[in-house]
Amino acid sequence: MATFSGLNLLFFSFLIASGAISVVSGTVFTIENRCPFTVWPGILTGNNGAPLNDGGFILNSGAKVDVNPPAGWSGRIWGRTDCNFDGSGAGTCVTGDCGNKLKCAGAGGVPPVTLAEFTISPSGGNDNYDVSLVDGYNIQMGITTRDGSGDCRNAKCASDLNGSCPNELRVVAGSNVVACKSACAQFGKPEYCCTGAFSTRETCPPSDYSKMFKAACPEAYSYAYDDPSSLLTCTNANYSIIFCP
Ligand SMILES: *[C@@H]1O[C@H](CO)[C@@H](O)[C@H](O)[C@H]1NC(C)=O
Ligand SMILES: *[C@@H]1O[C@H](CO)[C@@H](O)[C@H](O)[C@H]1NC(C)=O
Repeated sequence: MATFSGLNLLFFSFLIASGAISVVSGTVFTIENRCPFTVWPGILTGNNGAPLNDGGFILNSGAKVDVNPPAGWSGRIWGRTDCNFDGSGAGTCVTGDCGNKLKCAGAGGVPPVTLAEFTISPSGGNDNYDVSLVDGYNIQMGITTRDGSGDCRNAKCASDLNGSCPNELRVVAGSNVVACKSACAQFGKPEYCCTGAFSTRETCPPSDYSKMFKAACPEAYSYAYDDPSSLLTCTNANYSIIFCP
């Protein structure tokens, strides 16, 4: 086994200090469940990147878990509700299911799902993040920042949108409203999805539906061309992703 000589160590330190070697991001995501019920978080890494924490796990009410995204990580975190998994991790969730498995490992959640979206800087610059209702709503979520510099505003959707969801967008299980679809997912119309003739910020104004989402959750991204102020930036921070903030 090779050992570092003092000179090697010195040279290695020089490479790091000079930026020739990039150091792994120190970013920490603390995923916390403040809901009075169990949540099964799902994590999807973008660009077919390696899953974080197998892409999914159980988080009891009151529990929190630290997750370490590498520098440059981008992806989304969502919550699954009312899941039933067997000992092998097979099973389903009433909302946010990623294909009959506890460990989503590369699979996304079936909308409607509330999303926490992140792009962590590859080089210690600006991270971008938001809470998004573009794929609908299934649980209250928030993002708070710790010790970063820059704008670093918190983002959240803290209202229970199940209750205020219009009838035509409701997802019902038994006698409960469990989620609220986006108008795009429900009606597939270009004016709701911002596609076709409506594919730019100018031609895709907010709809009555996206305005309803925005009114309930002003700090969340409500549709594809929502006010860009819902997209937030912060540098060198750690983040808490909180269910039921
Ligand atoms: C919305 O869903 C949450 C989580 O499933 C549930 O606790 C809440 O009671 C629901 N709200 C309504 C109005 O059904
Ligand atoms: C993020 O958390 C890690 C682990 O607790 C800590 O070492 C690091 O200093 C924190 N970073 C910031 C910006 O607070």
